[in-house]
Amino acid sequence: MSSSRQLPWVEKYRPKRIVDVVGNEEAKKEYIAWINSWVRGSPSRKAALLYGPPGSGKTSIVHATASEFNWELIEINASDVRSREAIFSRVYPALQTRSVYGHTGKIILIDEVDGVWTKEDVGGLDALIELINTTTYPLVLTANDPWDPKLRDLRDLCKLIEFKKIGKRDIMRVLGDICSKEGITCDRDVLSAIAENAKGDLRAAINDLQSVAMGKDTITLADLQVLGERAAQENMFEVVRIVLTSKTPEGALSVTRLPSLDYEMLIEWLNENIIAQYSPSLRAIADAYDALSLADVNLSRMKRKQMWALLPYVMELITAGVSGVREKPPFKFVKYSFPEKLRLLSRLKTKREKFIQASKRAATLLHVSTSMFRSEILPYIRLIYTYDKDYAMKILSSLGIEDENAKYVLEY
Ligand SMILES: Nc1ncnc2c1ncn2[C@@H]1O[C@H](COP(=O)(O)OP(=O)(O)OP(=O)(O)O)[C@@H](O)[C@H]1O
Ligand SMILES: [Mg+2]
Repeated sequence: MSSSRQLPWVEKYRPKRIVDVVGNEEAKKEYIAWINSWVRGSPSRKAALLYGPPGSGKTSIVHATASEFNWELIEINASDVRSREAIFSRVYPALQTRSVYGHTGKIILIDEVDGVWTKEDVGGLDALIELINTTTYPLVLTANDPWDPKLRDLRDLCKLIEFKKIGKRDIMRVLGDICSKEGITCDRDVLSAIAENAKGDLRAAINDLQSVAMGKDTITLADLQVLGERAAQENMFEVVRIVLTSKTPEGALSVTRLPSLDYEMLIEWLNENIIAQYSPSLRAIADAYDALSLADVNLSRMKRKQMWALLPYVMELITAGVSGVREKPPFKFVKYSFPEKLRLLSRLKTKREKFIQASKRAATLLHVSTSMFRSEILPYIRLIYTYDKDYAMKILSSLGIEDENAKYVLEY
């Protein structure tokens, strides 16, 4: 398998020029007009706010602009505009540096600003507005949801450009292009199913294609099973949102009626995302974790002693309990993250699978059992590896274990 297969395709196929950004013709036209007004030296507005759903090309079009015009792209972390102090200590200095790569200009990108400012640090918002008024470079902000009342002054200042979900046909075309560049044969039905499932999110579609295509030259509809997992995750984002943002206990409890609710999974997801949703209210965070830990105690008691009667309490604690906290902050849009713990477990699982695959292959070649290979032969190869890496690699390669697979076998 070539190493380029390992690179995330969403990075590898990120548009290099504005024309490569597919769909959203209207938005692109407005954006290009705005960029051109900067090129002419008389910007219509100093800043543009690109908003719309995930995976529609907002970040991509800014990257494409920088590479097309040979401008330096200055990407500013949303957290660096949170407070006035951060803007002065981190943003202004970044704008002053001279580019060493012969760029002919600069463009500033502040990605995903929704939800950055809380009531406490409007100072950051004011400082950003000052920055926009004085900038001598085009400044782009992106957001999924720009309608927060707090953002009003900012909105008034920016050229607003709406990005919409990418159409199914466009998604299929991009997926088809990627397949032909990667040398993968893929039916139209398969592309259509992936595109349908992505619901307008091109990033999701490309990621799905890559996970389906992993290690294959031909993809058929049967390969799409792997996608089941992603669909379930997507659902979890919604469940977490309902629990953490519902205004009433009943609202939060409603998720317990979902036929497919995996409550242990929900605990992991809440554990990962409570802080993001409830900060800066320490009271709310503490209350939520109290409910969660009580649920956890009851859950393990329930499993240990087979006391299924405890399940309703567990369910109430992880929904109404986590939701009905004191000093709950007002609703804000938060991008939830996948639980780190589960991510780690799944990474270990892939490692294990690769290890098993490789040892099976070697064992077959050597006419021994896999466990014989692992207990009697592999330890010597590892030992040889510590003294003579090249030699050990040669041995492994004679056993059909090459490149990155060697790493799995040596390290597992
Ligand atoms: N319109 C598009 N044309 C081509 N590729 C796209 C487009 N939209 C998304 N992609 C692909 O999906 C990836 C993610 O897109 P991008 O980062 O631009 O999304 P976004 O709109 O900024 O989403 P988010 O709101 O989640 O930040 C890109 O790297 C690119 O590979
Ligand atoms: Mg983005």
